[in-house]
Amino acid sequence: MSGVGVDPVLYSKYHHLQERDVNDFLHVSASFLNWGNLTNKVVMDVGCGPGNTSSSWFLTIFPAVKRLIAIDVQEEMINLAKVLNPQPKIEFMIADISDEASVECWEGTINKVISTWCFQFIKDQHKSFRNVYNLLKPGGEAAILFEINSSYHVCYEEITKSQKWHKILESKAGEYPEIYTKNVDAAHFKQLLVGLGFNVVLCTKKQKSFVFSSDDDCIGYALSMFAWHKRVPDELMEEFRRDLLEEFSKYGGRDSHGRITVHYNLMNILVKKPS
Ligand SMILES: C[S@@+](CC[C@H](N)C(=O)[O-])C[C@H]1O[C@@H](n2cnc3c(N)ncnc32)[C@H](O)[C@@H]1O
Repeated sequence: MSGVGVDPVLYSKYHHLQERDVNDFLHVSASFLNWGNLTNKVVMDVGCGPGNTSSSWFLTIFPAVKRLIAIDVQEEMINLAKVLNPQPKIEFMIADISDEASVECWEGTINKVISTWCFQFIKDQHKSFRNVYNLLKPGGEAAILFEINSSYHVCYEEITKSQKWHKILESKAGEYPEIYTKNVDAAHFKQLLVGLGFNVVLCTKKQKSFVFSSDDDCIGYALSMFAWHKRVPDELMEEFRRDLLEEFSKYGGRDSHGRITVHYNLMNILVKKPS
């Protein structure tokens, strides 16, 4: 996996922001795409992470689903998911959605693909959307949610370039996923998806905000989405946490209860492969 990366252990604990949005998105998808109870349907969760959010929420909403194949490119995520969320209907597998060879064993066999908070990490999105298309059966559908063009990433930029931390992190700065900050609009994705042969049901960018319940939740989130923090030596980690939290509070300010807020954008995509 390229880029900034997600920290498996921290993400398995600090995913309250994602959890809220995944739950909302799955309900919206179900209503737009007329998903009933999905009995006998085979579903794939792309970029399942430790399994607490997308896969587990999906099974809670659709307990009658036949089988859920949950893939992730990081072996550590899959190992953690198997320990944290063992469920007979979920099959956790290591696979890379941007690599055709890695997913071709499921080609044409999937009824629904879901993917939440994953596509922002993928360099070749065109290839990955094409692979999603090929995975689906005719008439199959995909619900894909990912972060795009979010202002709070300036906090990581400030830290990465700061005098204090740039020696440890600077060599990584060029690898920061540009989709986080790049101003790509929904029309770009719509064109890409139509070009691949999908019927587009929904393709919109939505502004979101999230208020962290505590500083611990904020810094947990901030570190979980910035696995490069592992380059910081143990003896400097406390200072790094303080500086990153300071950036987040400078960026979003604190509300009257002292809580920090972040603002971000999510691309919401619902598509159907023609029958
Ligand atoms: C932020 S986590 C999201 C986990 C979960 N879907 C959720 O909504 O909370 C993003 C996951 O996408 C995975 N990922 C990134 N690129 C991927 C790829 N090319 N193929 C499969 N998984 C990928 C990462 O390893 C990471 O576990």
